[in-house]
Amino acid sequence: MDYPTDLVDLVAKRSTGFQLEGFIAGQGPIHPKLMLVGEAPGRKEVENHIPFSGAAGKELIQAMESIGLTRENTYITSAVRSRPYKVLERLDKRTQKNEFVYPNRTPNKKEILAHAPLLDYELSQVQPKIIATLGNIGLQRLLGPKWLISEKHGTVYRGSILKLNDTLDRYQLSKREYTVLPLFHPAAIFYNRSLTEKIKEDWILLGNLLEKEDE
Ligand code: URA
Repeated sequence: MDYPTDLVDLVAKRSTGFQLEGFIAGQGPIHPKLMLVGEAPGRKEVENHIPFSGAAGKELIQAMESIGLTRENTYITSAVRSRPYKVLERLDKRTQKNEFVYPNRTPNKKEILAHAPLLDYELSQVQPKIIATLGNIGLQRLLGPKWLISEKHGTVYRGSILKLNDTLDRYQLSKREYTVLPLFHPAAIFYNRSLTEKIKEDWILLGNLLEKEDE
């Protein structure tokens, strides 16, 4: 996605002071059947500028392929388009010297609000038939903090979503209605293997939903 320069400048300004690195544009076609909304890019994505190109991305692409989706027919983005990192000091066991490391972390509410103009713009341009959120961050960005992926995964929502208000400091409900399917984040499986079956079932449901769009 080529964003307008003033939009990128605005988000850069709104991101001042946050520990965010790089800028990775959302990718995919305009007017696809599906838009995927993840959390934030990680280190791999900062390197190669391809959303979901790290370990979680491998899981995601497999799941997508299982229902006939590819990067070419699906728009992929996330709530935050820069890598949130934290600064840790630790002992390097080999050199016995202290060093700083900068691991990924979950974006916080202020960072998600700072980047909200980008996702609003993408939605207005891409106009997907269906949105699938990946994990709690994407889900709560669009439907609010009461939505929990553990409760809502695999249940189809139809209605307004959250977008920024005119003064860009709060969310308000959109006039347009959207179809949203909450899915687990593909990295969830790394921490909880017992989700495997649920994740499979949710993707089958998404496949059926997309097929109905064709009728
Ligand atoms: N997780 C996300 O939400 N987005 C990426 O691009 C990579 C991991």
